Amino acid sequence: MKRICIVGISGKLGQYMTEHALARGYEVTGVCRPESVAKLARFGDRITVFPGRTDDRTVIGAATRGCDGVLTVLAPWGVQDYASGTARAVIDLAPPEARLVFSCGWHVSRDGKDRYGWKIRAIVRFGTPILRALRLVDLDDQQRAADLIFASARDWTLVRGSDLEEGPSEGLPVWARHAHDPTLARNLMRRTDFALFMVAALTDPTLIREAPAITGRD
Ligand SMILES: NC(=O)c1ccc[n+]([C@@H]2O[C@H](COP(=O)([O-])OP(=O)(O)OC[C@H]3O[C@@H](n4cnc5c(N)ncnc54)[C@H](OP(=O)(O)O)[C@@H]3O)[C@@H](O)[C@H]2O)c1
Repeated sequence: MKRICIVGISGKLGQYMTEHALARGYEVTGVCRPESVAKLARFGDRITVFPGRTDDRTVIGAATRGCDGVLTVLAPWGVQDYASGTARAVIDLAPPEARLVFSCGWHVSRDGKDRYGWKIRAIVRFGTPILRALRLVDLDDQQRAADLIFASARDWTLVRGSDLEEGPSEGLPVWARHAHDPTLARNLMRRTDFALFMVAALTDPTLIREAPAITGRD
């Protein structure tokens, strides 16, 4: 792994992934909205930024060119299929051999067999229609993005994160195939460790075509 692209590089997760990737000696390119480029000032010329929406196919094609891996933050903003448009662009346009790693939350399920606590069920059941009616967020579109990834023959991993908090690293998160697995009972991890898992997944062949649900170590 030499060169990677981070799609959604200016957000909190994106910036942590940038730190971990640079620490591993990777050459880093990234995509973020033009108005967010300034958030990346601290990285200076250690990264190359392609300003644009993450579902812009021209920008994704240019930013991922020559990359061995692509880390993508799937964010269900608005009601214009932003997350699924982003996933489709990365799947279609990243170099054929590139390792593709995507982020989302536990509420996304691969086989419909995940069992959730009352909090997540309430957020998904009541939050989805309200946020969509307000035209702010479309949680269903994150599931549509995930379904595109699951159907893809690419070397993908979809990392499904637990609740997040800020703070120093506690180490690489633990993972399981389903969110209700007892090893994930903590349902809380440091955001920097979510990023650590995403970057580590780039070089972990055991995670190819897996959708690990992850949380912090006790
Ligand atoms: N927050 C949680 O508790 C939680 C829990 C589990 C999993 N996750 C997953 O973790 C990943 C990162 O989430 P996060 O909460 O930590 O946020 P984040 O890293 O700050 O990322 C948010 C992303 O959305 C972009 N964004 C924000 N507002 C936007 C808008 N109006 N239109 C288009 N793009 C916009 C941001 O770009 P700009 O820099 O341009 O604003 C950034 O790339 C996501 O895949 C999420 O599903 C989050």
